[in-house]
Amino acid sequence: MIFERAEEAADFVRRQAGVVPAVGIVLGSGLGPLADDVQNPVTVPYAEIPHFPRLTVQGHSGNLLLGTLSGCPVAVLQGRKHYYESGDARAMNAPVATLKALGCGVLLTSNASGAMQEGVNPGDLALLRDHINWASVSPLIGEAGLGDPFVDMVDAYDPGLRRLMQQAAGRTLPESVYTFLTGPQFETPAEIRAIRAVGGDLVGMSTVPEVIFARYLGLRVAALSVVTNRAAGLDGESLSHAHTQATAKRAEAEMRALVGRFLAILQESGFEP
Ligand code: HPA
Repeated sequence: MIFERAEEAADFVRRQAGVVPAVGIVLGSGLGPLADDVQNPVTVPYAEIPHFPRLTVQGHSGNLLLGTLSGCPVAVLQGRKHYYESGDARAMNAPVATLKALGCGVLLTSNASGAMQEGVNPGDLALLRDHINWASVSPLIGEAGLGDPFVDMVDAYDPGLRRLMQQAAGRTLPESVYTFLTGPQFETPAEIRAIRAVGGDLVGMSTVPEVIFARYLGLRVAALSVVTNRAAGLDGESLSHAHTQATAKRAEAEMRALVGRFLAILQESGFEP
């Protein structure tokens, strides 16, 4: 049962770190360096935590960090297991449920994406306002003992947290519909045209499974995306994982500053945006 696994993992983590985190953060592709901003970090490798996944993608380390960021107690998942690594949409259920078991009420997640949206270009940050689960897989399928799995996905990306993120940005961040595909191959131009036609703004290979599971658990969710490229066929560039990671790096400083201000504002608000 997922809740028992999460309790076991949380007990293990509590034995290493005294912090009771309020916000859980998932660091996606190229965003790992945000981990350097965590004050007084206690680092617990995923490999040591019961029921945590083993990561396989280059550029993703697997550590849970506990500490404070902008004075806010946080638990940072440094690295995620993607659906494309094993074909299992439940891969991040145990880490996300562990964040909740440790005390988190908010999940801030991040990813890299390709953009179809006008005016959103490589190196830009975007705030997710909704998603399309194009892969049509669910982390709630095949997970025993969930009780009521019929999760309401309206406002999955919390409107109050979005307002706070915009305030933290001090300018208008683009708000985008993220479309989740299994990967690991990039899209064809025809797929991108189809996704654009049904309302997708960004494409990527992560985030949606953990957002669904976080909403199942009742966590409030905010999600940021680093746009690393225009989506397939929209400009002359060919796509690669290395290129994606290199462009994500360009937005790193802005992302770190933004997350720092967001957490400070969230603290000030008493977590009631
Ligand atoms: N497609 C899918 N995933 C991505 C992309 C993309 O264009 N860019 C970064 N992650």
